[in-house]
Amino acid sequence: MEIDSFLGLVRKRRSIRRFKPDPLPEGSVEKILEAARWAMSGANGQPWEFVVVSDADTREKIIQAYTEGRRHIKIIEQTRVQELRHPYFDCPETEPSLKYAPVFIVVCADPRALQATVLSSHFYGGEGGPMATFYKNMANATQLICFAAAALGLGTQWVSVNATWEAQVKSLLKIPQVIAVHTIVPVGYPDYKIPPPYRRKLDEIVHYGEYDSSKARTDEQIQDFLYNLRRRTTPSYSI
Ligand SMILES: Cc1cc2nc3c(=O)[nH]c(=O)nc-3n(C[C@H](O)[C@H](O)[C@H](O)COP(=O)(O)O)c2cc1C
Repeated sequence: MEIDSFLGLVRKRRSIRRFKPDPLPEGSVEKILEAARWAMSGANGQPWEFVVVSDADTREKIIQAYTEGRRHIKIIEQTRVQELRHPYFDCPETEPSLKYAPVFIVVCADPRALQATVLSSHFYGGEGGPMATFYKNMANATQLICFAAAALGLGTQWVSVNATWEAQVKSLLKIPQVIAVHTIVPVGYPDYKIPPPYRRKLDEIVHYGEYDSSKARTDEQIQDFLYNLRRRTTPSYSI
């Protein structure tokens, strides 16, 4: 694959927050998971496992638990100054983004596989400690799922899983206690015009040779960035 095609795919993948109910082409989930299988992981520990959920009843139960779990997130988010609230929790209630996606990929992991990594990281906090390695591994797999789906012309959403929702999903899907649920990725066709993407400019974030202190952001600049970020990205959430 040429670099321009690769960059095209990288830019094409976007977070999708409303899906059409149309079924996925046959074999697409397997292709997506084949990509995830090739993700990088610390010491090649490959802790991932994937539960593919297409049954409508089960998806609905997962969504119900998700909706309940979001209530307290919204309450906590309301304690922030309005302009800095996460846009997802500062817009009118809409149908859950996952609602019509025909397939959910539940990205799971067995933390015991972390023993593959160097022993010292479990004691000295190397690379942020063993849980950091765990999350990095799982993020890599999740990201490849999203890119593979984009290459197939499909949309995905990276849906973070909190402890309450995780417990409910595990019980619904009969996931063993020792296995963790990292993310849930709905896969389907986008059902709206995707708002323009936003990324910081390359020359703002790259330093050649050494850190260019003229690019160092002040506290005020970070604050401006956060306010601007909210303004620019709110349309991606209020679908
Ligand atoms: C660690 C992580 C957690 C995320 N959690 C969520 C989430 O819970 N819900 C959601 O809609 N998007 C989630 N996202 C997606 C980001 O919001 C999204 O990637 C970002 O806003 C950039 O937009 P884009 O994906 O359309 O380029 C998450 C992404 C990452 C890497």
